[in-house]
Order: sequence, then structure tokens, then C-alpha cells
Amino acid sequence: MHRVVRRTVLGPQVVRLEVEAPRIARIRQPGQFVIVRLAEDKERVPLTIADTDVQAGTISLVIQQVGKSTTLLGNLQAGQSVQDIVGPLGHPTHLENCAHAVCIGGGVGTAVVYPIAKALAAAGTPVTAIIGGRSRQLVILENEMKAICRAVLATTDDGSYGRKGLVTDALRELLAGAQPPVGVVYAVGPVPMMKAVAEMTRAPAVKTIVSLNPIMIDGTGMCGGCRVTIGGKTQFACVDGPEFDGHLVDFDELADRLAMYRGQEAEAMDHCRLTLKAD
Ligand code: NAD
Ligand code: FES
Repeated sequence: MHRVVRRTVLGPQVVRLEVEAPRIARIRQPGQFVIVRLAEDKERVPLTIADTDVQAGTISLVIQQVGKSTTLLGNLQAGQSVQDIVGPLGHPTHLENCAHAVCIGGGVGTAVVYPIAKALAAAGTPVTAIIGGRSRQLVILENEMKAICRAVLATTDDGSYGRKGLVTDALRELLAGAQPPVGVVYAVGPVPMMKAVAEMTRAPAVKTIVSLNPIMIDGTGMCGGCRVTIGGKTQFACVDGPEFDGHLVDFDELADRLAMYRGQEAEAMDHCRLTLKAD
């Protein structure tokens, strides 16, 4: 069992849980993830390790409460526990050595790109962060990013905070005129965002790394659930990723596969709402 030591609400339906997992906290590297199971009969949920506190023996998990399993996980309070956490899983981030890295987080994807930005900054690479949300409350981890980046550009779709527009609007300007020029882009967020970023950096040939979140089940490369196509070849995000060259990813296939169980997910969520209301 792993006890939740702190729960912080970062935005509407976005929660950070600091959970006891001392071994994982000790050995985890940026870019890696865990698979969490609330209880024996519950779904396995892959979550990136957003941060660690080795002294306290905890890992931070940022959860967007969009479905039944993530809603139940995100509702956990300090003192409650999750049954098991498997990890760390996946390859650590390859830290590109360059004069200017840009880390882009779309919505809750900011929690995934944050440890990458932190590791780049710790390695001495100047980082500009672009963090976007549909509205002000959905721009998360801005202070944490400000503490490690040379600049943080916030964007909102509705203009309620920062620059009005998408993260790609801010990226376009950086690609056109940043000094030093952008050497590498790390982008994490919704699939259409990562696709748009990769399309924008293709012509100027700026290396672009994305973190993929396909459906995962076992996290061991055995079930095939997280199959993605990279440069025409089948790869498994849990063991070959989760980070890949954005210019090689088949984003349309990823979007189709993510949508495969939408009906069942909505049904499970409706049932979950009714159960939570009855409690
Ligand atoms: P969202 O749909 O609100 O988008 C967040 C931001 O991304 C927007 O404000 C915008 O700036 C940008 N964006 C979205 N679509 C874009 C497009 N077509 N072109 C350019 N920019 C675009 O995001 P959300 O509701 O917070 O959802 C987060 C998404 O991130 C979910 O789809 C979730 O599955 C995904 N996610 C991915 C990972 C990962 O590892 N890749 C991890 C966690 C979450
Ligand atoms: Fe089963 Fe990756 S989650 S192969």
C-alpha cells in the first residue's frame, strides 16, 4: 500500500497527489512513469512522475479527473492509500545538449514536461517554457516552471490569462526570432497539439520530442495496448518510449486508438457519478 501524504488541487479536475513510494523516488529519472492501481479490482492507470522528494520518500502524480479511474484516484485524500504502484517504467528523457530548449505543456501535459524542463535546467541548458490552457484556471505549475526556466510564456485559448491563443502561436514567434535560436523542442499535451508542434518544427528541422500517452494495460511490452507507429515501425510506448521523435509519430493513428473505448469510458463515468452521488 502507498499512502497519500498530500493532495493539492491545481485546477478544475486537476489534482496533485504526493504518494509514498521511497524506492521509486530514489531511482526514478525524468520522463519515466508509473502504473497505479487504486485497489485489486480497479483499472491500471499510467501516470508520469511529475516530481520526487527523495528525503520524504514520495513521488508527485498529477491527475486529470476525466474518467472513472482518474476521478476515484484524484478524490483520494491525505492519509488514504493506493494498493500498488509499478515503476519506474519507460526510458528516461534523452536530454539534448543545446543553447536553448523549449518545453511546451498543453493543459495537464505541463505536469509531464515539467520534470523534463527541470532536468534540462539542472544540466545547464537554458529553457523557455510555453504552458497553455483553455482558460486561466487550466494553466498549471507556472510558479514551478518560473523557478527553473529562463522565461515562461503562458497562453490561454480564451485570453483570460497570458497571451490569447494556442501554445503554437507562442512557439511560432520563438522559432522565428529567439536568441539563441531554438535547438530542441519537448512537447506534451493533447494529440492535436503535439501534432501541430511537430508540423511547425518540421520545416526548420528543429528536433522535437513528444511524450505519448496511448492506452496502457501491463506496461511491460506484452499486451500490445500501447502500440504506436513511429517512422512506419510498430513500437510500444511503455517499453520503447514514452518519448519519441515527434517528426516520426503517426498522430492520426494514435488519436484513433485513444478514441476506441470512448463509449465504454463515458458509460463507466456515468455509473461512477451516480455511485459517488449515492455515497
Ligand atoms: P486542452 O485540450 O485543453 O489543450 C491544452 C492546450 O493545448 C490548449 O490550451 C492549447 O494551447 C493547446 N492545444 C490544444 N489543441 C491544439 C492544437 N490543435 N494546436 C495547437 N495547440 C493546441 O488539454 P487538456 O484538456 O488539459 O487535456 C490534456 C490532454 O493532454 C489530454 O488529451 C490528455 O490525454 C493529454 N495528456 C497527454 C500526456 C502525454 O504524456 N502525452 C500526459 C497527460 C495528458
Ligand atoms: Fe502493454 Fe505497453 S502497455 S504493451
